[in-house]
Amino acid sequence: MMRNDIEIRPLTRHVGAEVRGVDLREPLDDDRFEAIHQALLDHLVLFFHDQDITPDQHVAFGRRFGELHVHPAAPCVDGRPELMKIHADASSPFAEGTRWHTDVSSEEEPPMASLLHLRIVPEVGGDTLFASMYAAYDALSDTMKRILDPLEALHNSDVHRGRYEQVGGGLRREKYPEAVHPVIRTHPETGRKLIYVNAPFTKHIIGMKPAESDALLQFLYAHCANPEFQCRFRWRTNSLAVWDNRSTQHLATWDYYPATRSGVRVTVKGDRPRH
Ligand code: SIN
Repeated sequence: MMRNDIEIRPLTRHVGAEVRGVDLREPLDDDRFEAIHQALLDHLVLFFHDQDITPDQHVAFGRRFGELHVHPAAPCVDGRPELMKIHADASSPFAEGTRWHTDVSSEEEPPMASLLHLRIVPEVGGDTLFASMYAAYDALSDTMKRILDPLEALHNSDVHRGRYEQVGGGLRREKYPEAVHPVIRTHPETGRKLIYVNAPFTKHIIGMKPAESDALLQFLYAHCANPEFQCRFRWRTNSLAVWDNRSTQHLATWDYYPATRSGVRVTVKGDRPRH
C-alpha cells in the first residue's frame, strides 16, 4: 500500500510490515508520521532498513509517538537513560528478551511502543519474533473469552531484579515496579481486545489458587506461541523495528553466541491497561 510515497509491505496476515520510502535522518512531516502511526496500529510492528541514524534522530523519532520511558534498571548508552542498551557478545552471561514478553508490563502504565535500532548484527541469527495478541485473543472460544474477560493478574519485575544484580546495574526508582492488569486488555486506540499476560512478568491471576492460576497461564502462554500469530524479523546493520507494545509480544533469539549483536532501544510511555 502507498501513502505519501511511503510503502507498507505486510509480512504476514496478522503481524509485521516493512516500511519503505522513509529516511529517518530527515524530519517527518505530520502527514508522513500519521501514515506510519496508522501502519503501526494496522500491522503492530514496523521494520525499516538502512537507517544510519544518530541517537538524537532515534530519540526524535520515538518522541513523535509520545513522551519517552526510562527503564527502571537496564544499562544505558552515553549516560542517557532514555537510550537503553541492547547488547550481547562472547562475554555475555545472558541476552535480554529471549522469552516471549511485552516490555516492562510490571509498570502501572507500561510502554506503548519500543523502537530498537541495531548497529551490529551477527552474520546469521539474532532474529526477533513478534506475535499478535489480537490474533491470539480472537482464536479463543467464546466460552474461554467469557472466563478470561473479567480476570486480572499481578505483574512484577523479579525478572529484572536477579539479572541486574548479576551485572551490577543500578535501580533508577525506589522500588521494582509491580502492577495489577486485566488479563484481557482493550487497546486504547483500536478498541480491539487482546491477551495481556506474559511469562517473565505475570506472576498470578488474582483470586485463584496457585495451581489454577498456573494452569490457566501455562495454557495462555502455549496458545500465544502459536506460529500462526507470528512473524520473524531478520535484522541487517541499521535496521530499526518499532513495535506496539500493547498488542504484541516479542522474543529475541540468542542463537549467535559468541558473535556480537548490539544496538539501542528507545521506549515510549503508555497508559494504564483497561478491560
Ligand atoms: C527487547 O526485548 O527489547 C529486545 C528485543 C531484541 O533484542 O530483539
